[in-house]
Formats: sequence, C-alpha cells, structure tokens
Amino acid sequence: MTAPILRSLAELRAKTTEWHRDDEMIGVVPTMGALHEGHLSLAQAAKEGCDRVIVTIFVNPKQFNKPEDLANYPRTEHEDAKKLAPYEVDAIYVPDPQEVYPEGFSTTVSVSGLTDMMEGPFRPGHFEGVATVVAKLFLQAQADRAYFGEKDYQQLLVVRRMARDLDIPVEVFGCPTVREPSGLAMSSRNLLLSSDGLKIAEHMHKVMRQVAQNLAEGGDFATLAQDAKARLLAAGFSEVEYIDLRCAETLESLPNANRPARLFVTAWADGVRLIDNIPVDSA
Ligand code: PAF
Repeated sequence: MTAPILRSLAELRAKTTEWHRDDEMIGVVPTMGALHEGHLSLAQAAKEGCDRVIVTIFVNPKQFNKPEDLANYPRTEHEDAKKLAPYEVDAIYVPDPQEVYPEGFSTTVSVSGLTDMMEGPFRPGHFEGVATVVAKLFLQAQADRAYFGEKDYQQLLVVRRMARDLDIPVEVFGCPTVREPSGLAMSSRNLLLSSDGLKIAEHMHKVMRQVAQNLAEGGDFATLAQDAKARLLAAGFSEVEYIDLRCAETLESLPNANRPARLFVTAWADGVRLIDNIPVDSA
C-alpha cells in the first residue's frame, strides 16, 4: 500500500503531533523526488532507526542556479510513491510551494566555512537554498532524526552544522553512497547520460579508487591528482572541475592522507556534471 501523500503543513502537523504524543521517534528523509536506490536506502535506514518515517518530496527552487535546471528537473511523484510502498513509510510530504515559501518569505539560512570550497563556488546560492529548505523541513516535520546520502558529502556536513548552530534538535545521519555494479554512484543525473556517456562515467569511481589506494600507501596528493585528471580526460570526460583531498570532518584541504580523509571529484561527461566522493584510509 502506498503511504498517504500530505500536501499541507496542517496535515503533517496533525500526524507528527499525535506521534510525538505517543513518544514515537520521527525520522525524515528529505528528497527532491525522482527516487532511485540511493534514496530508498535512506528510507530503509530511517525505518530501521525510527518509529515513524516521513519522506519529503519538494523540488526546491532556491537551490537551483539555472532556471532551466529547475524547469527540467524530473517530477515523478506517482512512480516515487510506488517505489516507496515496500518500505512502508508513514507519510510522503509533498508540500505545495506556499507551504514552504509563503507570500513574503524573507529568510535565508547561510552556513559559512564549509560552503566556501568545492560545490560552493561552482554553484552560487546553492547551499543557502539547501540549508534554508532543510531547516524548514526539519521544523515542519518535527523530526528527531534525518537521513542524507554521503553521495552529497558536503551537503551532509552543511546540514549537520546548520542543525547544530540553530539548535534544531535533529540527529543527522549520513548513509553510504549506493552504486551501480560498475561503481558509478547512483544519481538522478545518470538518467541524462547516453550509453556512451555512461561508459565514460563508469571510469570515475575506478580512477578514484586507485587514487585512494595510492594515498593509503603514503602517496602525495598533488602528483596523484594530476595523474587522475589526465586519466579522466583520456577516458572521455570533457572537463574536470576539481579533484580534492579533504579532512572528512572539517573539509580542510590535505596534502596527503595523514588523517581520516575523503577524496572528491567533479567532472563533466556527455554534457552532464557528475560528482562523487569516497573515504580514504589513513596512510
Ligand atoms: O539532496 C537533495 O535532494 C536536496 O538537496 C535536499 C536535501 C532534498 C534539499 O532540497
């Protein structure tokens, strides 16, 4: 059976108030829809960790830099609800836009520091849009726990920082990236790749794993990054925006894997911007 779809804050609050009255722990999984296995793994983790689970589907206009990206974003509510059915979540919150951004809405949540690098400069305003909508969704859902994919690792840290800084009492969990058998990270953007583009994209994770292994063996990142960029371009990527090695907690840039680190890559294949990151064992 598909979960009830709630479109107003009043409907959502009626449920969450009752659940909290019964001392039930509420988990929220914020999404923009077009659900794939990665999202479903978050719903599964929420089911395992909470008494009640709300999946939110809201294509957030504030986090898109380009109007055409917002207009072209897939909207597949019916299919999404069907995909969620086996997970028996308790509600799917698909708010009408005015429930999130009512007339006169004037507040922006901005997290400094963690947003200054990687995706931040490439997508101006993106993280403000994410932090603002996630703060609203946390508060609207009155959630105790929230589940995000490590695929968007920088987003995960930004959201966690935001909740801590604003004393929003939500525990933010990061869940491992779900991958295709080829290693390609699941993403709604993969649907935009042609079959040739897919073959190119599959090289990203392989190159990243090789770099991570060399780092764990004590390699110097600057040299490895140069080599990885050359390999990605040779595999057919048209542009590599960044290859970064960063501290897994602070996102501070690292010259080698001398502490828990993550390797981040963003590159274009077949006209599609792909991002990925993996943990790196300490050398
Ligand atoms: O990762 C996403 O799908 C979005 O950035 C999120 C967290 C649902 C906020 O709109």
